[in-house]
Amino acid sequence: MKGLILSGGKGTRLRPLTYTGAKQLVPVANKPVLFYAIESLVAAGITEIGIVVGDTKDQIIAAVGDGAKFGASVCYIQQDAPRGLAHGVKIARHFIGNDRFVLFLGDNFLREGIGRFVDRFRSGEANAQILLYHVPDPQNFGVAELDGDRVVRLVEKPKTPPSDLALVGIYFFDQTVFQAVEAIRPSFRGELEITDAIQWLVDAGLRVDAEILTTPWIDTGKMEDMLEANRLVLETLEGGVEGEVDETSRLVGKVIVAPGARIVNSHLRGPVIVGENTEIVNSFIGPFSAIDHDCRIANSEIEHSIVLEHAVIENFPTRIEDSLIGRFAEVRHAQAKPVATRLLLGDHSRVGVP
Ligand code: DAU
Repeated sequence: MKGLILSGGKGTRLRPLTYTGAKQLVPVANKPVLFYAIESLVAAGITEIGIVVGDTKDQIIAAVGDGAKFGASVCYIQQDAPRGLAHGVKIARHFIGNDRFVLFLGDNFLREGIGRFVDRFRSGEANAQILLYHVPDPQNFGVAELDGDRVVRLVEKPKTPPSDLALVGIYFFDQTVFQAVEAIRPSFRGELEITDAIQWLVDAGLRVDAEILTTPWIDTGKMEDMLEANRLVLETLEGGVEGEVDETSRLVGKVIVAPGARIVNSHLRGPVIVGENTEIVNSFIGPFSAIDHDCRIANSEIEHSIVLEHAVIENFPTRIEDSLIGRFAEVRHAQAKPVATRLLLGDHSRVGVP
């Protein structure tokens, strides 16, 4: 079996971070969300992986390379524009050849491995296998209607959802999906929908198996979802200090301090991860925070947040919570007179002042 990861697209819901970076590279516990997908395929024994890329191709290639560091062989398939998930499958036909494959959306995060689902699909007779998850907002996903465990109908982002079962962005296909993607037409949003391709398989009388997931799945499209994925991963990490921690600092619970990081007179309450060469001085870092490499946090408090590389937070007067702070961002208490709030925010930034 092969793996096909879709890592193109636009990422409008994660603006402004995605103006400059691929949404699949936003880190969860200091590791790009895309890496979890690759690791999950490799752990299930799938090492031949194709990644569909778009405008952010160069960044994805720089981060993943030839896949050797994951124990995989990775090749790239260029998509000229985000024409839909089924379009991504269509242009990967040459790479897939005569194999069966797992289609993994590069911004999807699943805490459990996919080994069990791969084994079931490998040894079974199904033409396709989908995973479903109960969600409170099914109108934001592809939604499935079941009759017992048989898939009857699938609809993409319906206004009136027929159920609360969202289609997880991890799908298993045999060759019949290529007939489906050729047969379907673009949807109202102008995309070739994978949901329509699977519906085509159902209508053609082919076998589509469904399984309802009971362990956490997250589509990391929005900030709140990134924070939740971050929380889930941090919860499972073991602590470990490789950087420098001075004797006036206090580390409680599971805390990872990467090599080259420096903790001075600070209180870190885990689970927390601090990346390489990051400096934390006179500060409090609360649970479920991931501070990436080369950041500086001084005289500030932060909790349940993700801070990307090279960000600086200094002398901030209130505790920062539930936040996502981008690369090279600077958050400071402004000392210049007259006293005022001074902002330089990218388009679609969000600020909430108490
Ligand atoms: O996350 C699960 C949902 O993913 C499913 O429930 C929906 O049925 C499915 O359509 C999809 O919905 P999204 O609106 O979340 O898809 P999004 O546009 O965010 O794209 C998902 C991934 O695929 C993302 O990593 C970008 C990539 N992509 C997307 C498109 C449209 C491509 O590589 N090429 C594309 O043309």
